[in-house]
Amino acid sequence: MSNSKGFTLWFTGLSGAGKSTLAQYLIPIFKGMGCPVECLDGDEVRENLSKGLGFSKEDRDTNIRRIGYVANMLSRNGVISITAAISPYTAIRDEVRGQCEATFVEVYVEAPLEVVEARDTKGLYKKARAGEIKQFTGISDPYEEPKSPEVLVHTGDQSIEESAQAVLDYLHGKGLIPSREAQKA
Ligand code: ADX
Repeated sequence: MSNSKGFTLWFTGLSGAGKSTLAQYLIPIFKGMGCPVECLDGDEVRENLSKGLGFSKEDRDTNIRRIGYVANMLSRNGVISITAAISPYTAIRDEVRGQCEATFVEVYVEAPLEVVEARDTKGLYKKARAGEIKQFTGISDPYEEPKSPEVLVHTGDQSIEESAQAVLDYLHGKGLIPSREAQKA
């Protein structure tokens, strides 16, 4: 018997902001609570479910709709469904939120462009600046910041533990995951 209600935990933010890192950090925590969890990670989804899609607005919207569709199927069946895609457009984020039958929790994984560009974990910002990658989010393509996300984390000046704790505190507060007391019992 699962300890949790399903919900969708939708991370949005620039490439390199820490969406995947935060997702990977949280997964064992949720599992440790006895909650089933799945992660739809942008890079991974683009290797299978969205293989062949590019980065035009149309293709990004299709990618996000697919992720939202699967996240809904999982979360309405009791799974904690984590998504980690840039999801740069407000309208599509709101569309998938509207279609989600379980609770939808938007987490804006915020980090300034200077910070993600300095990290440049995949070397893509350098290529984008050099014009080798077109339509790169934050450089030559838009990122529409969420205006009222359920959770806002600043990975530029928070540790991963602090960012994760902010997410967990919100979920505890909403009764979406077992309280610390219940976990100890
Ligand atoms: S989204 O816009 O459709 O949500 P998604 O999260 O799936 O994007 O993919 C983003 C990842 O693809 C980035 O982290 C980066 O590794 C890679 N990527 C390659 N080209 C681009 C681009 N033009 N813009 C943004 N990310 C890109």
